[in-house]
Amino acid sequence: MRARRSLIDLDDLSGDELNDILDRAADFEDTEPAPLLKGVATVNLFFEQSTRTFASFNFAELRLGAHVVNLTPGDMSLATKGETIEDTALTLAAMGVRVLVVRHPEVGFAQRVAQAFDGHVVNAGDGAHAHPTQGLLDVFTLREEFGSLEGRTIAFVGDILHSRVAHSTIAGLQRLGAKIVLVGPEVFLPSEYAKPGIALERDFDAVLPAVDAIVLLRIQRERFAAMPLSDAEYVARYQLNAARVARLHERTIVMHPGPYNRGMELDDTVLEFAGWRYAKQVRNGVFVRMAVLDFLVNGSP
Ligand code: NCD
Repeated sequence: MRARRSLIDLDDLSGDELNDILDRAADFEDTEPAPLLKGVATVNLFFEQSTRTFASFNFAELRLGAHVVNLTPGDMSLATKGETIEDTALTLAAMGVRVLVVRHPEVGFAQRVAQAFDGHVVNAGDGAHAHPTQGLLDVFTLREEFGSLEGRTIAFVGDILHSRVAHSTIAGLQRLGAKIVLVGPEVFLPSEYAKPGIALERDFDAVLPAVDAIVLLRIQRERFAAMPLSDAEYVARYQLNAARVARLHERTIVMHPGPYNRGMELDDTVLEFAGWRYAKQVRNGVFVRMAVLDFLVNGSP
């Protein structure tokens, strides 16, 4: 297998590479890792707020022995001194930096960095486009739960239009043979999203008893000017609440990339539900990010 330099989206990975990363993540979950990134200079460039992804990359890098520096916009010359991201990338490369983890509100930003940087770039989220490590950790969590994903039905509910997580997770799930159902109002789920292997459903109640897993999504209010339907209407039609949880099959699991908004896409019943897997996803995120970094930096054994 050829060495791969960067991870911009899940579509970049072949089926074998995807499985390789998931298998490595499983190994990291089971055994204390060797210092596979010992001394590898790594910079996390986060231009957007982040709790989970930022902390998770940091822990993954530190557990593998990397040397880590974190930069946020206030720290960087490009915010106020007119430096381009390309020149920032050159500057960091000159210091021996080999890995850049990049989050930015602009679609294509991580790709731009990858073109300028002589090292590995991991996209930690670019606008509404892609978030491949979240996609991988969602797929990893589902694979742990069900073994094979072949023929399993996974529903995504809510603001699919603005969700980079949905985009990346769906790309991974399709690769592993899962069936996808997208659930939401037209304003968050345009009709043209229906494709082979991807069904559309406007009525959340219609899918509840039939799915293996539900991925709830936050309404990404920061990505549009005004809420296109009232919160009350959204809650009535799409909130996962006690009445809807009661209609799920006992083996159905519920996931959320976080941050979740209580009272919007879910109510507190969901947080008590036996199939709620949010904490498992967050925990798996560290192993999956360790696996991605090891895969990029060290290649195949
Ligand atoms: C998501 C993101 O930032 O895309 N969160 C995450 O990384 N776990 C989803 C969101 O912000 O709703």
